[in-house]
Amino acid sequence: MIRLFAFLSLGTVIIALMISGCNKPDQKSSTVPPKGTASNPPATKPSEPQPSGPKPKADALPTLAEISKLEEDSDTAAKLVGNAPLDFGWAMFLYTNWPAKPGERGVPDPGKKPGDAGPVVWETWKNVAEVFLDKGAEPPEWSVPPVVPPEVASTTPPASDSGPMWQRMTESIQVDGFPTKDDSGQTIIYNVFQNKSVFDYIRTNGLYSVQGQIAVAAGSGPIPKIDFPWTAMEVKASWRWLDPEKDQAKIARYFTAPAYWAELDDDGNFVKWQTGLMGLTGLHIISKDLPTWVWITFEQVDNGTWTKAKRLHPIPPEVQAVNSKMQKLLAATKFANYELVGVQTSFMSNPGSPVDGTSINTVDPGQGGSLLANTQIESAFQSRSSCITCHSIASVAKQLPQQPADLLRKSFVEVGVTPPYYVGNGPDLAPFVSMDFVWSLRRARSTE
Ligand code: HEC
Repeated sequence: MIRLFAFLSLGTVIIALMISGCNKPDQKSSTVPPKGTASNPPATKPSEPQPSGPKPKADALPTLAEISKLEEDSDTAAKLVGNAPLDFGWAMFLYTNWPAKPGERGVPDPGKKPGDAGPVVWETWKNVAEVFLDKGAEPPEWSVPPVVPPEVASTTPPASDSGPMWQRMTESIQVDGFPTKDDSGQTIIYNVFQNKSVFDYIRTNGLYSVQGQIAVAAGSGPIPKIDFPWTAMEVKASWRWLDPEKDQAKIARYFTAPAYWAELDDDGNFVKWQTGLMGLTGLHIISKDLPTWVWITFEQVDNGTWTKAKRLHPIPPEVQAVNSKMQKLLAATKFANYELVGVQTSFMSNPGSPVDGTSINTVDPGQGGSLLANTQIESAFQSRSSCITCHSIASVAKQLPQQPADLLRKSFVEVGVTPPYYVGNGPDLAPFVSMDFVWSLRRARSTE
């Protein structure tokens, strides 16, 4: 099955999965609760049987209708994750980078194709800066546009692929507390976005404040536990500064956006807003098509030529083969300059399944944990970067810390190994309670 897919287009694979009744789900997809259970209600009505109409050409990009099926039908999505995870990774890249419908948030524009001008779908999702507000205040509803500071809004944005919409950057360090720099000494910066399913779940259930999260953990909240719907998706993007005049050659190779960023002094106090043109260097995409989510990461193909953080584990040949196929189909767009690094679907590597993109990168053969890293986002700890393991530690205490030594969340730092991160099956979280892999919830502030 897997070998066969290598010769078919992604669209063909999605169609095949939609119409095949004889497709036995493998073990991974069988871990997905059936549609309609309490923990996994269908987002839409079950899909109608598909007409047998014209077969898509084997050498064409999947259509928006085909990709959107993965957001509408959990069975089709889970089957593709199980049978062809690399194709699923690329489908999610095309979906999130589809040009967005003007005037709406998070809706792909059926009248456009990949590479057309304007913000892409994920850029119109909620930036975490719009979700986790001062004093744990309730964020405004989904359709409310982001507020851009007047000093930024009055500046003319540089010309970019994403159009004139200012994108807010939220972080200049990686999760290990260190920055990564480009060849001109500029720091790589980051932002995180949540789709409507994630945002609505956070807003409805009061998870935007520390107290709201603790209430759920302590069993006194509106839901018994944090369990995002299967339609949940998030991205984390990494960007480099580009000079609109001097960097023309680089600008031609990166997806670009006008961005603003709060410059802080050494004590963390606000100094001023910086603005500039940014080029997308990396993109993490996560999607809850499995109960433990699907972990996907992409990079701009030139990263290795200028970044100080070299790739530790080469991209596996199976992944490279899918990349060349997709890059050819995207040749007319800047997205041809992006590559899938891998897709992680399990804590432990699966030697029988090279396509899973994780077995090759095993650090510790004794333990057999699976690894995946982006050189722009997990630069210094690639040798112990397991997306799924680190995110499984996202947790919260059942009460507000009383003593300075008390922690609000379990740390993903494992004292005793170097570099100090968990790989393989995650640790016991007790006395903390899981936040369903969503680490950005740690941005929530206290109402006090
Ligand atoms: C050592 C721990 C660690 C590892 C390994 C790690 N992450 Fe994260 N990740 C975090 C933390 C902490 C955040 C929250 C960052 C913030 O709030 O800005 C985060 C944020 C994210 C987000 C934003 C959404 C969210 O709420 O969590 C995505 C998407 C993401 N990571 C994907 C990945 C992928 C894909 C990989 C593997 C290629 C990965 N991460 C590896 C710790 C980790």
